[in-house]
Amino acid sequence: MRPRPRGCTFASSGDDAHAIEFHERLGFVRTTETPLRRHENGETVEFRAVETSDAAPPDKVLVRLDLGPPRAWPGTETILTAGPSISAREASYVWDAARTGWNHHWADYIKRFEKAFAEYVGTRYALGFSSCTGALHLALLAVGVGPGDEVIVPDITWVASANAVAYTGATPVFADVQLDTWCLDPAAVEAAISPRTKAIVPVHLYGHPTDMNAILGIARRHGLRVIEDAAPAIGAECHGRRVGGFGDFGAFSFQGAKLLVTGEGGMLVTDDDELYKRVYTLWDQGRTPGTFWIGAQGWKYKMANVQAALGLGQIERIAELIEAKRRIFDWYACGLAGIPGIHLNHEASWARSIYWMTSIRLDESLDLARDALRTRLAERKIDTRPVFPTISQYPIWPRRQPPCPTATRIAERSINLPSGVCLTRQQVDYVCAALADELRKG
Ligand SMILES: Cc1ncc(COP(=O)(O)O)c(C=O)c1O
Repeated sequence: MRPRPRGCTFASSGDDAHAIEFHERLGFVRTTETPLRRHENGETVEFRAVETSDAAPPDKVLVRLDLGPPRAWPGTETILTAGPSISAREASYVWDAARTGWNHHWADYIKRFEKAFAEYVGTRYALGFSSCTGALHLALLAVGVGPGDEVIVPDITWVASANAVAYTGATPVFADVQLDTWCLDPAAVEAAISPRTKAIVPVHLYGHPTDMNAILGIARRHGLRVIEDAAPAIGAECHGRRVGGFGDFGAFSFQGAKLLVTGEGGMLVTDDDELYKRVYTLWDQGRTPGTFWIGAQGWKYKMANVQAALGLGQIERIAELIEAKRRIFDWYACGLAGIPGIHLNHEASWARSIYWMTSIRLDESLDLARDALRTRLAERKIDTRPVFPTISQYPIWPRRQPPCPTATRIAERSINLPSGVCLTRQQVDYVCAALADELRKG
């Protein structure tokens, strides 16, 4: 490899201003600026350094630029919490779907995406949806959840997990989470069960799996259905198995901030023939297969072929995308090691997280308020997200329930750090240094 040049000299007048700007963007810095005077001698013109006795404005300024030290981020852009990786593979599939995916080919990419997805998760069936929320809704209906029933949901999650319960007419009941995994605490689930409980919705929050062995054990003992909300957790593993295939159904999201994106979109997976048939009819407007006859109440939550083309490209690259997320987490773990007052999310011994969001919890011993820290990081061009509030607080639920204590502790003191899958080591190092600096200032 050729060595990078160590120095470079430009005059700053006329077109050279562009050259200076270009090199500054590449990391060159101005080292000297020499005023020049124009001298004509017959037919030749030359520029010489201005004499110290010469007070008139110079004709030009010679600017010398040298390659600066590795530049601390940022230039002008904010380092974002999310953002996908889209390769030429996805672009070519989408282009193909847009040109050819009509009439008899309207579902070609949908079928390929569903097949590849089911194979990856390890289930017999996968059905494309317009959102994970829709997938959760129909999964709950398919297992028979309805008015008068209760469904147990963790107190920290995106509201969609409980909204889907409310759409069926059932009541979400909020259970506490574990301090280390941020996912449902089996003991809290057990305590929340009543004679009306019909199902549990474990959420694999921020890409870390819920302990499904414990949840399935409870469900079996009490005769409950399990719908996994795996919205942000494609490829996460629990005891060596990929999430989504443990429960009666598993639902995934491909909304734009997720690891696997289709813009908006979702997937519902199941291993159960009967449940698949039931949910398919609900998903297809209640239509009798192969006809325009409507034999039951149904819904419209379908995925488009062009979206599925994007999704297919993404699932074919999923191992690479997960590795990138895990690498980003490792960079954070390295950069934040030994900084007092923060707890980095980590993997339980039985889990393989995809670290959709690398996150920290601020220790109660810190005086610095969470949102003050976020404001200061934003001033340094670092985007962060507050962890979801405890969702039991929202005024929309039919039954009032106090927030759960561990969920409250996490929700009030935790932050998602920039975790976009294309982040560079330099950006993560910059975030770690900024975070350490702000925590030191207090
Ligand atoms: C835990 C969880 N559940 C459900 C959803 C809903 O997904 P969608 O936006 O695809 O409906 C999300 C989306 O952010 C989520 O994070």
